[in-house]
Amino acid sequence: MDHEASDLRHFIDAVERLGALRRIDGADPAIEIGGITEVAAGLPECPALLFDNIKGHQKGFRILTNTTVSAQRAAVALGIDPALRPLDALAAWKQRRGTLRMHPPERVGSAPFLANSAQGNAVDLGIFPAPVWHPGDGGPYIGSGSIVVMRDPDTGWQNAAIYRVQVHGRNRMTVQFDHAGRHGAGIAQKYWAKGEAAPVAVLCGPAPALFVAGFEYLPEGVSEYDFAGAILDRPLPVVSGPLTGLDLAASTEFVLEGRLLPIEQESLPEGPFGEFTGYYAAEARPGPVMVVDAIHWRDDPILLGSPPMKPPRFHFGLPLRAASIWSELERCGVSDVIGAWQHVAQLMTVVAIRQRYAGHARRAAMIAGAQTYMGRLVVVVDEDVDPSNLADVMWAITTRCEPSEQVDIVRNGWSSALDPRLLPEDRARGQTSNSKMLIDACKPFAELDRYPRVSALTLAQARAIEDRWMHAIRPR
Ligand SMILES: Cc1cc2nc3c(=O)[nH]c(=O)nc-3n(C[C@H](O)[C@H](O)[C@H](O)COP(=O)(O)O)c2cc1C
Repeated sequence: MDHEASDLRHFIDAVERLGALRRIDGADPAIEIGGITEVAAGLPECPALLFDNIKGHQKGFRILTNTTVSAQRAAVALGIDPALRPLDALAAWKQRRGTLRMHPPERVGSAPFLANSAQGNAVDLGIFPAPVWHPGDGGPYIGSGSIVVMRDPDTGWQNAAIYRVQVHGRNRMTVQFDHAGRHGAGIAQKYWAKGEAAPVAVLCGPAPALFVAGFEYLPEGVSEYDFAGAILDRPLPVVSGPLTGLDLAASTEFVLEGRLLPIEQESLPEGPFGEFTGYYAAEARPGPVMVVDAIHWRDDPILLGSPPMKPPRFHFGLPLRAASIWSELERCGVSDVIGAWQHVAQLMTVVAIRQRYAGHARRAAMIAGAQTYMGRLVVVVDEDVDPSNLADVMWAITTRCEPSEQVDIVRNGWSSALDPRLLPEDRARGQTSNSKMLIDACKPFAELDRYPRVSALTLAQARAIEDRWMHAIRPR
């Protein structure tokens, strides 16, 4: 059987079977599609949205949004049982991620996206609906959940990561690298240093497994294609790009092939673009230009749109980076970690432990704090608190944490230029660190035996009740 994350159409079928797909007709790609996506992502049971009959576009040229925004759909993309509770699903992913076997991609002879092609002067990006996602954005973005493929000219390694792509005309786009450390930026530099344009392909509507892989921090030399193969537990089929010779994932809905020109040669104003913090991080800035020399598309192609949105909305309903922090805690020898989670779109990290010794909670907090990108809040809770449940976490903070004794602040921690709280002058001089508040919301270790007994059900008792009675109590 085909894996549900092996292409977007199998995935959509799976989401439909789960009753979590809504079809929307007649929306305008200028702001409306982004607005509907944001409002839907704020609902407790956020559905995936499949837009068709998009204003100004041919019927069948579709956009899928909120693809993996729920825990259930993120689980499907990872090949995890979608019936698992969120923390159990993340635990299952952490377990699998630790034992994944990389599969290099497999060359095949054909791909559905080669059914239709246009080259040179016949290229017109305008046939594909590209939304203006947020009202203040600088233009339409065809790449928000698209994969940018580039090949290292020295080693042949192919990087396939998610970088946003703005459309500027019939055959011109910009690709945005957040910083020079992005692998795509490093590869582009190698070509540009020789005065050459970098061959590049943008995969629009990728397999959900590749979408997840595109977000992974993989070491230089390791391809996201191999990681997607690991998720699927089989090689990802690829075809050779007719123009660039780059490996193109065969299950992609449509592909844009071209050249990324040296930024010294040509640039276009890129952005502004709403970020995952819920703010703009910069005004329009010069971005490197991709000239699109060929486009290829399946019949009735589907764009995977994944705009950053105001938290708690996030691209993935399971906090994938929290799984890495959980593994890291264990690697460092912190025992009895019950779970790790991130809230507010990764900006708050929570770890649950079963305390075994004095200092256990702070040890976990310091390691989690060191590994928390951009976030300012790290909370450690006892084992009876579900770290994925923000209300429970707040209950622990307000009933177990004496701020004068259990809160520490670490200065100069890991953040980024996207941090809205940075002062412009600090951002300009590269001073992009922030401070982190480590909140020990555990019962004081020495008081464990004397602490007032909890009156509520234990997590296990609550789960047993849910399993037996949820059908009767859930609102219809
Ligand atoms: C939906 C989505 C959009 C993203 N957009 C960008 C972007 O525009 N620029 C960027 O540098 N990183 C972006 N990222 C983060 C990178 O894709 C991610 O950090 C990736 O691991 C970088 O790959 P690399 O290490 O091969 O450069 C985005 C991630 C997601 C999930």
